[in-house]
Amino acid sequence: MKKILDLLSEEMQNWFEQAGYDRDLGRISISNRPDLCEFQCNGAMAGAKKYKKAPLLIANEIMAMSTQSQTYSKVEVVPPGFLNINVKESVIRDYLCEMGQASRFGVEEATKPLKIMIDYGGPNVAKPLHVGHLRSAIIGESVKRIARYMGHDVVGDIHLGDWGLQMGLIITELCERNPELVYFDDTYSGEYPNEAPFTISELEEIYPAASKRSKEDEEYKQKAMEATFKLQNGVRGYRALWNHIMHVSVTDLKKNYQNLSVEFDLWKGESDVQDRIPGMVYYMKEGGYAYESAGALVVDVKEETDTKEVPPCMILKSDGASLYNTTDLATIQERMEERNPDHIIYVVDKRQDLYFEQVFRCARKTKLVGDHTRLTFLGFGTMNGKDGKPFKTREGGVMRLEDLIRDINEEMYRKITENRVVSEDEARMTAQMVALSAIKYGDLSNQASKDYVFDVERFTSFEGDTGPYILYTIVRIKSILAKYREMGKDVEAARLQDPGSSSEKDLMMAISNFNTVMENAFEEIAPHKICAYIFDLSNAFNRFYHETKILTEEDSVKQAGWIALLELARNILETSIDVLGFKAPERM
Ligand code: ARG
Repeated sequence: MKKILDLLSEEMQNWFEQAGYDRDLGRISISNRPDLCEFQCNGAMAGAKKYKKAPLLIANEIMAMSTQSQTYSKVEVVPPGFLNINVKESVIRDYLCEMGQASRFGVEEATKPLKIMIDYGGPNVAKPLHVGHLRSAIIGESVKRIARYMGHDVVGDIHLGDWGLQMGLIITELCERNPELVYFDDTYSGEYPNEAPFTISELEEIYPAASKRSKEDEEYKQKAMEATFKLQNGVRGYRALWNHIMHVSVTDLKKNYQNLSVEFDLWKGESDVQDRIPGMVYYMKEGGYAYESAGALVVDVKEETDTKEVPPCMILKSDGASLYNTTDLATIQERMEERNPDHIIYVVDKRQDLYFEQVFRCARKTKLVGDHTRLTFLGFGTMNGKDGKPFKTREGGVMRLEDLIRDINEEMYRKITENRVVSEDEARMTAQMVALSAIKYGDLSNQASKDYVFDVERFTSFEGDTGPYILYTIVRIKSILAKYREMGKDVEAARLQDPGSSSEKDLMMAISNFNTVMENAFEEIAPHKICAYIFDLSNAFNRFYHETKILTEEDSVKQAGWIALLELARNILETSIDVLGFKAPERM
C-alpha cells in the first residue's frame, strides 16, 4: 500500500511534470503552519533557481492546473511562491478504508524476510538484576517485536553473563561458609545432590558479600580467581555448583523477565561457546590475523580513517585466559554457523561502544562474518534519578529491578483505588498493567542513546506524554465501543464516513500515518518514533472526543462512521503498544 504522503503528492507531482519541471518538486509535506493549511509544497521555491524563473510564476502556473483536482480541496499560492494545500475529505476516508482492509494496516510486508538476531538483556547470573539491565530488556524487546511485525525472522538471545569471576567468587564464599559440602571434597566420586545448597535469596546475599570481601582481602581474591580457573577447567565439584547457581538464578531471572513481558527465544550464555575458543584461536593464528604482543594474543583492528585510537582486540591474555571479547567473537562464530543471520543487533550500555567497535572489526577482519551480515551496536544511555545521577534507592544504594517495579506497582495501585471502588483482584491486575506501561513508555519514548531521568511522578501520571495516558485513551475508546454494543449496535458493520469536522479530519490524518511510522521505526531501529506517534494519535483522539457527542448522535450513519473510526484508532493503538511491549486493560 502506498504511503499517505506519496499518495497525496502524486497529483502535484504530475502537474509539475506536465508543466515541464522536475517531478520531484511536486512532493508535499505536512504544513508547518497548520492554522493556514494542512500540507504545503515548496517545489516552486526549490525549482526557481534551476529553471531561472520567479517562484511565484511557477507556483501560479501549478495552481492554474488545480481547478479540477482529484486530491486537493484547496491549492493556494502564498508569496514568494509557497503552495498551501488542503486535502479532500473523501481521499482521507478512502485511504483509511484501504488501511482497514489491508493486512497490518498497509505496512509493507518484507518480500524477503531478513534473519535478524537481537542480543539483549545480558544479565549476569547470580548478580541481582538492577535498573541498568532494565533498559536493555525493554529496548531489545521492542526492537524484536517491531522487526517481527514487519515480517522478519527474528530471534532474541539473552546472552547470559555466566562464565566470569562472579562464579568463582560465589564458589569461594560458599567454601568459606560450608567447607564440609561434598562439592569441595576432592576425593568424592559419587553423584552430587540434585538440590542446590542455597536459595535465591541466599545467593543474592552471597555474591555482594563475596565481591566486597575480594576487594579488601587479596588472598581471598586469589582464591576466587583460582576457583574460577578450576571451574573453567572442568573440576567436577565446581561444575556441579555452577549448575546449581545457574539453575537457581535462571529460574529467578525467568520470573523477573516474565513480569516485564520480556521473552527470549534463546537462553544462551558466555559459557555455551567456551568449547569453541581453542579452535577459533587456532583459526585466527593460522589465518595470520592474530599475533603475539607482550605475551598476549591480539588482532589489530585500527583503520586509517580512525580519528580516535582503536586499540588491538585482545583474544587471549598472557596467562592464556580468554576474555569478554573472546567469548563475544566465539558467539558470533556460533551464530553464523547455526543461523547465518543477515543482521545482529546488540542492545547494550553505550559505554561499551568502543568495545563493540573492536569486536565488530575483528569479526570482519577475521572473516567470522561475511559482507552480507550487518552488525549493529544499539548503545543506550543511563537511566538517572531526578538528581541527574544514576538511579538509586532512597538510601543511596543500587536500585534492584524488583524493588523498582514493586514501588511503581504500589503507586499505580494507590492511584487506581484512590477515588473508586474496584475489586482487589482487578485493582492489582490493572495496577500491574498500567505500571508496566509507565516504566516501558517512560524509557522507550526517549531516543535510546540518550540518558534520561526516571521520574516516578511524571511517568505514572495519567496526563502528558506517558504510558498511563496512552492506556487511558485506549480504555476510553473501548468503553465507548462497549456502550455502542450495549445499545444493540454492531461495531464491525460500522463504515467510515468523510470527516465532518477539523478534529475528526486531524484524527484521520494521524491514523493514516501508522504504516509510514512503523516502517521508519524499523529502518532506524527507533521505538521512540512509535511512542511519539501514539502520543500524537492519542491527542488527536482526545480533541475529537471532547468536541463530539458520539453516543447521543441521532444520525446513525454519522454515528457509525465515528464508531468505525474509533475501532480503527483502538486497533492501531493496541498494535502499537504491543510492539512496545505492554498491553491495555479493559477498564481503569
Ligand atoms: N553481561 C554484560 C554486562 O552486564 C552485557 C552483555 C552484552 N552482550 C554481549 N554480547 N556482550 O555488561
